[in-house]
Parts: sequence; C-alpha cells; structure tokens
Amino acid sequence: MASDLSVGEFASRAGIPVSTVHYYEAEGLIQSWRTPANHRRYDRRELRRVAIVRVAQSVGIPLAEVRDVLDRIPRNRAISARQWAEAAAPWREALDERIALLTRMRDQMGFCIGCGCLSLDSCPLYNAGDRLGRNGAGARRWVGEGEERSTLD
Ligand code: FES
Repeated sequence: MASDLSVGEFASRAGIPVSTVHYYEAEGLIQSWRTPANHRRYDRRELRRVAIVRVAQSVGIPLAEVRDVLDRIPRNRAISARQWAEAAAPWREALDERIALLTRMRDQMGFCIGCGCLSLDSCPLYNAGDRLGRNGAGARRWVGEGEERSTLD
C-alpha cells in the first residue's frame, strides 16, 4: 500500500533503531511485506504493536509473553484501546507480583547493607525464601548461576 513505510521510516516513526525493527520482526512481534524489488514495507498499524512491545518491555514483561498477547489480536485493523486493555490485563497480576517481590527485597535490603556475607542460611536477598533449599540439602550452588552441581559428595 502506498502509505506503508520503509524500514527507515518505520524505525523513525517508532523511535527505535532499524536493527530493533529487524529484531522485533525476527521475533514475530511485527510483520512486513516485500515489494517486487524485495524492499520491506511496514503497515502503519504495526507501529501500535511496537508501542505495546515498548511499554511491556519497560515494565519487564518478557518478549515471549508480549508475542502471545499480540498473536491473539487480529492484524487486519489497528489495535483498539479495548483490545489493548484486554490483552494487557494478565500482565497486571504479573506486575503486582513483581512489585510485591521488589518491595520485600527493598525492605530486607537493610538487613544486608554493611554485611556482605551472602549467606545461603541467613541472607534474605541471596537465597530469598530458601529457594536453593527446595532443591535438596547441602550446598546446591557450586560454580555459578544456573549451574547446579552437588558438592564434593
Ligand atoms: S549479605 Fe549478609 S544477610 Fe545479606
């Protein structure tokens, strides 16, 4: 369509780098079509999708969740305010949980300031809720984040 945008125009209108446009497209968050000369063109309606992605990212919603929400919204017209409100409703609960967690962490931070022990037994920030203890007894973390190894047993 004549009103569709080139990737540079789209990036400029969306306020993001061209590389981010390509990344969002590769992640399935937005779509383009190709001209006979194989140039990408973006429907202006895709700008609204970018706005949603940016808002979601700003509050820490993972891209996979954003994609799930955007996939449920038809592409044949611009996203309405109602569709956006319905789509974002599940994020409210996630945000409430995140706020509660961060509030707890902030409140417990005073316990750690000036301490530096990072004890698995007593540090409320390093092992909040004894999450490592749920994996079993003994030292559960030996090398680094995400690498679970038992100790020298
Ligand atoms: S660093 Fe010592 S209790 Fe958290």
